[in-house]
Amino acid sequence: MNMRFNTDDVFAQRIESSIQENVSLATYNTFRFNYSAEYFAIAESLDSLKALLAWANHFQLTVTMIGGGSNLLISADVSGLVILNRLTGISAREHSGNLVSLTVAAGESWHQVVKYAVEQKWYGIENLALIPGTTGAAPVQNIGAYGVEIKDVLARVQVINRNTGDVYWINGRDCGFSYRDSFFKGMWKDVFFITSVELSLKKQAELLLSYGGLSESIGERPSLQAVFDTVCRVRSEKLPDPVVLANSGSFFKNPIVSQAQHSELKERFPNLVSFPFEEGFKLAAGWLIDQAGWRGKQYKGVGVYEKQALVLVNHSETNAAALLELEAKIKRSVLEMYSVELEREPVQLPLCRESQQ
Ligand code: EPU
Repeated sequence: MNMRFNTDDVFAQRIESSIQENVSLATYNTFRFNYSAEYFAIAESLDSLKALLAWANHFQLTVTMIGGGSNLLISADVSGLVILNRLTGISAREHSGNLVSLTVAAGESWHQVVKYAVEQKWYGIENLALIPGTTGAAPVQNIGAYGVEIKDVLARVQVINRNTGDVYWINGRDCGFSYRDSFFKGMWKDVFFITSVELSLKKQAELLLSYGGLSESIGERPSLQAVFDTVCRVRSEKLPDPVVLANSGSFFKNPIVSQAQHSELKERFPNLVSFPFEEGFKLAAGWLIDQAGWRGKQYKGVGVYEKQALVLVNHSETNAAALLELEAKIKRSVLEMYSVELEREPVQLPLCRESQQ
């Protein structure tokens, strides 16, 4: 690194020497697209994260944080500093009643946290087993599966202000959570990085089995362990393991339509899969894409997963061009067939900064 930064400070010197230039991000995104970061560093503690932010601010570089890279669509080289969040640590506080507070650093693997909670016999996140990615990334898109979303158990989120380095806690209810969305994905994306989360779990049995088919798959004896095992099994059957086949989970959100549009669609497509949601209905985007003939289709080196049409996979591309083309084709065909606009689920990098718009 030829730039100089506060070289009197030994810690700052150490941080500066840990920053690499022109690093491939291929192993840091589960689509495995080979774009590079102008500068790249790993944050293993809050102090090193603060020092990295100070370094980037000193040189007026944009900062991008990556967790597990499993909900990312990188479509160009990323300028500025890319920080890989590897903050670790889990601690629990058991309260006198039914509650347990579980505080988890952002770099911890989400699935390992779920596994740990199930081993401790704490209820609340078992339906969210086997979701790839880190704990800090989970609130950004308000991860959800089998009727549970992280917002349901999220007491607080610890954030660092990327400009000032100040660290503070925000209550879960103030984070603007909605279906696959939060302020972290929207108006806070240029302000905060998540450093830790506090989950509120339960010690007494409370299982949520209402999501289509889950209770039938579990059988006679629903237990915490049975739910965890079943969710792991069902997910492994339906969704590709990103280690084996590059993907980022659901590529589209399930669209929400009005009651009127739903009735119209139901008349034209009596088998339409949909669920009442708020004022209208949520449609299964996987069903729409599947019925439009896309499931299992290949396009250049990418394709639509054969067992779940909501998942786009990368067989052999090193950049995002073919995937973006396939996305456009699917969106067009779904719009023509159902008059429904699909919205992308993963976050695109480089982020579109407010100041650059
Ligand atoms: N379906 C089809 N064809 C397909 C895919 C789905 O007909 O190719 C039908 C299924 O038969 C089912 C319905 O669509 O009747 C819903 O499918 P599924 O239960 O697999 O769930 P999903 O709505 O497609 C959502 C989440 C998943 C989550 C599952 C289970 C979104 C965008 N996706 O998928 O989340 O695991 O529910 O709760 O909400 C993710 O976000 O990456 C993810 C995998």
